[in-house]
Amino acid sequence: MAILIDGKALAQKVRGEVAAAAAEMTEKGHKPGLAVILVGEDPASQVYVRNKVRACENCGMYSAKFTLPAETSTEEVIALVEKLNRDDAIDGILVQLPLPKGIDRKAVLRAIAPEKDSDMLHPENLGELASGADCLAPCTPSGVMRMLEEYDIPVEGKRCCVIGRSELVGRPAALLLTGKNGTVTVCHSRTADLAEETRRADILVAAIGKPKFVTADMIKPGAAVIDVGINRLPDGSLCGDVDFEAAEKVAGWITPVPGGCGPMTIAMLLDNTIKLAKKRLGL
Ligand code: GUN
Repeated sequence: MAILIDGKALAQKVRGEVAAAAAEMTEKGHKPGLAVILVGEDPASQVYVRNKVRACENCGMYSAKFTLPAETSTEEVIALVEKLNRDDAIDGILVQLPLPKGIDRKAVLRAIAPEKDSDMLHPENLGELASGADCLAPCTPSGVMRMLEEYDIPVEGKRCCVIGRSELVGRPAALLLTGKNGTVTVCHSRTADLAEETRRADILVAAIGKPKFVTADMIKPGAAVIDVGINRLPDGSLCGDVDFEAAEKVAGWITPVPGGCGPMTIAMLLDNTIKLAKKRLGL
C-alpha cells in the first residue's frame, strides 16, 4: 500500500511558516498583502478565490478581493492590475484563471508587475524559470516539489513523467523536476503510447483534467504518484486524474484528492507572496 502524501497537513505547516513571516513583517510596519481578481462567475473559480482570500486572512496577511463581471473588457482588467501594481499595500497580485472568453489572458498576465506576480505566470518570470534560475515558480508545481521534498522522495537521476503541458502546471512542473536533476518526459494528448511512458516513471505527475484517467496498470510499482487533477463528478463529489483506489495498491507514494495538491497550491501562493514582499521591501 502506498504512503499517503498528506497535502493538507503539509499545507498547514507551510501556512504556519507564512503566518510567522507575516507577523514579523507586520511588526516591522508592513502587513503583507495579496490582491485577488476574479472575472466572471465560474462556480469553481469562486470557491478557489474564496479559499485563497480566507487562507490569506488566516495567516495574518492583508487581502483585497476584486470581483468583476464577465463582460469586463481586457483594458478594464489591465487598468485594475496597473492600479494594484502602484499600490504599496499590495505585494502580490493574482488573476484567477481561466478568464472569460473575450479577455486577452496573455495581455492581462503581462500587465502584472513581475515583482508582484504571486502566480509567477508573467512571461519574464516563466522565462527565468525556463533559464534554469533558482527562482519562485507557479503555485501548483511549487506545491508538487514541496511535497516530494517533505516526503524525501528522490528526484535526481529518476525518471519523471508529467502528463499535461499547460502553462499553469505541466510545463513549469517539468522545468522544476529538470532543475532537481530528474530525467523528465512530458506527455500530452498526442503522445503515441502514453502507458508505455508512464510505466517507466519513478515520479508520475498527472495534470490532465480527466477523472480517473491514470489507471493502476499505467503506474510503475513503487512510483510516487502526484495527482494534480480536481474533477467534479456528476454526483457532486471530487476526484483526481488518478484512479486512487486502484493506484494506491501499486504506487509507493500517492496524493489524495481532495487533500493533496489543492491545499498545497494555496499554501504556496501565500509563500510566494511573502517572498515577493520581502524581496520588494528589501527585508
Ligand atoms: N486556476 C486554477 N489554478 C490556478 C492558479 O494556480 N492560479 C490562477 N491564477 N488561476 C488558477
